[in-house]
Amino acid sequence: MNAVPCSPPEAGTRLQALADWVAEVAALTRPDAIHWCDGSDAEYDALLSQLQADGTLIPLNPDTHPGCWLHRSDPDDVARVEHLTFVCTRDAEDAGPNNHWMAPDAAHRKMDALFEGCMRGRTLYVVPYCMGPIDSPLARCGVEITDSPYVVANMRLMTRMGAPALRRIEREGSFVRGLHSLGELDPDRRFIMHFPEELSIQSYGSGYGGNALLGKKCHALRIASWQAREEGWLAEHMLIVGIENPQGETHYIAAAFPSACGKTNLAMLVPPATYLEAGWKVWTVGDDICWMRPGTDGRLWAINPEAGYFGVAPGTSAKSNPNALAMIQRDTIYTNVALTGDGQPWWEGLDDRVPAFDWQGRPYDPANGPAAHPNARFTVSARQCPSWSPRAEDPQGVPISAIVFGGRRATTMPLVFEARDWAHGVLVGATMASETTAAATGQVGVVRRDPMAMKPFCGYHFGDYFAHWLSFDVPGAKLPKIFHVNWFRKDADGHFLWPGFGENLRVLEWIVGRVTGHAAAETSPLGLLPVIDSIQMPASVQLETERASILGYEPELWDADRAEAGRSLATYRPRLPQDFETALRAVPES
Ligand code: GDP
Ligand code: PGA
Ligand code: MN
Ligand code: MN
Repeated sequence: MNAVPCSPPEAGTRLQALADWVAEVAALTRPDAIHWCDGSDAEYDALLSQLQADGTLIPLNPDTHPGCWLHRSDPDDVARVEHLTFVCTRDAEDAGPNNHWMAPDAAHRKMDALFEGCMRGRTLYVVPYCMGPIDSPLARCGVEITDSPYVVANMRLMTRMGAPALRRIEREGSFVRGLHSLGELDPDRRFIMHFPEELSIQSYGSGYGGNALLGKKCHALRIASWQAREEGWLAEHMLIVGIENPQGETHYIAAAFPSACGKTNLAMLVPPATYLEAGWKVWTVGDDICWMRPGTDGRLWAINPEAGYFGVAPGTSAKSNPNALAMIQRDTIYTNVALTGDGQPWWEGLDDRVPAFDWQGRPYDPANGPAAHPNARFTVSARQCPSWSPRAEDPQGVPISAIVFGGRRATTMPLVFEARDWAHGVLVGATMASETTAAATGQVGVVRRDPMAMKPFCGYHFGDYFAHWLSFDVPGAKLPKIFHVNWFRKDADGHFLWPGFGENLRVLEWIVGRVTGHAAAETSPLGLLPVIDSIQMPASVQLETERASILGYEPELWDADRAEAGRSLATYRPRLPQDFETALRAVPES
């Protein structure tokens, strides 16, 4: 151990458990140097210079995009790898059929063999981070050890990283341990392992955000969901957005959509012109992860554990998401976007310019497919968002008025409906489905069940997870109303029926109206549907028939969907809650 130089030499920690763990990892991985990250500007600048020097980051046009960089990943390392992601619990049953499982001993042996000597010639970075406002009782800390300075730079944008986090860790004495190495970036030697009982994560062979920035999916969802169940809170794949009406009242909505199904866009929505004129405002608290806990007032209070956004670039434009576009003009790390001739980032849907180079750096040729990778991303500090909420740093979080579930469904699901009560809402979330996207490797566009948008992220058995959700319905609880939305319904020609993006505020207005008792609804087999004219339709949707096909449902498709949803739920027996069994018996056969 003593052979490993420590730089800077004065760094380290007075927390013995952390010092011991770093020493143990260094003995296994054999780095040339150890760097304890303090999170300072000087450290970040030095990292960026180093990444530029070794070609990991390419500077973008400084006139149009000051402080912006392009990273081109290995072409085989562009998304999350669900088939290589494991939850390693002592009892296989606890991981549930929703996760890949490996016995902890076997997983440790496999990972130790991969990590053995893997940091030779590299620097080991110790990255202390805090998920959530640094002084929040809802926040939780972790330490990521990584040999990727690109990961360190991204962690600085995405989390509260450095000295303040280390001080909190030293005070609390406990932290989630995340060990990451790029390895050889070989897809056959790539594993993302979670040990919830040990509060630890081991990730090898990928530099992609969801696999490598361990504070995000690995800690804040898979490990945190486990802790949340033990401690009585919820760690969810949800955006948090504040809707301020012309009277100045703000309602906070948490919404779970699967990856690449519209969370970032909804979180930073710009209201349609008529709404802006009337005085509506939208405030962004979070765009991907929400930690919620019942307060003493019975309401659910939520924080965004992240400090930055790791957003999908394709489709982001001045029209679809002007806030996001403004936010990523400076100090942003782009991954796998295309380039214009003058060094600006470009992707499909941005504008009608023709790029010069594709995401792999080849001269652009449409024969090679899209110029930007469909899962090209930007990483940026949350504070750069023009709609960044003044409440986003509130250590107590924000009270949630409504929970929204949704997915990409070309058919079957109407624009919006409301669940009858909490238990029905939990069932609606548990049976949601969505077409797969480029955010994970595998086939795109296949409808799969994705309960609460947590299929890739719940760190334990879905049956137990549904029961945990149901357990919040206790006397005195003032729970949010639950809704389901679908922005992605298509007509017979394959065009989206609903204009989406900023126009989605019309639906949020109805949702808030339901919460305050100002919007009308009628019962249906789905739940409560908006009565005609209770949602202000955009100018592009004025025909009665169009409205009906957006807002209505087709009984045959709905029954078939429920039958399929029931079969999917049945796979979580025998841990399926009794309430669900009762609901399943009521589902028509199909
Ligand atoms: P996230 O991964 O859940 O945060 O999803 P994003 O907000 O990044 O959106 C993913 C993709 O869906 C992008 O290409 C968006 O342009 C597109 N998208 C987002 N919201 C809408 C919408 O309301 N309608 C349509 N048609 N597309 C949307
Ligand atoms: P997303 O985040 O939900 O914004 O796509 C990344 C992911 O879920 O992989
Ligand atoms: Mn996500
Ligand atoms: Mn997003």
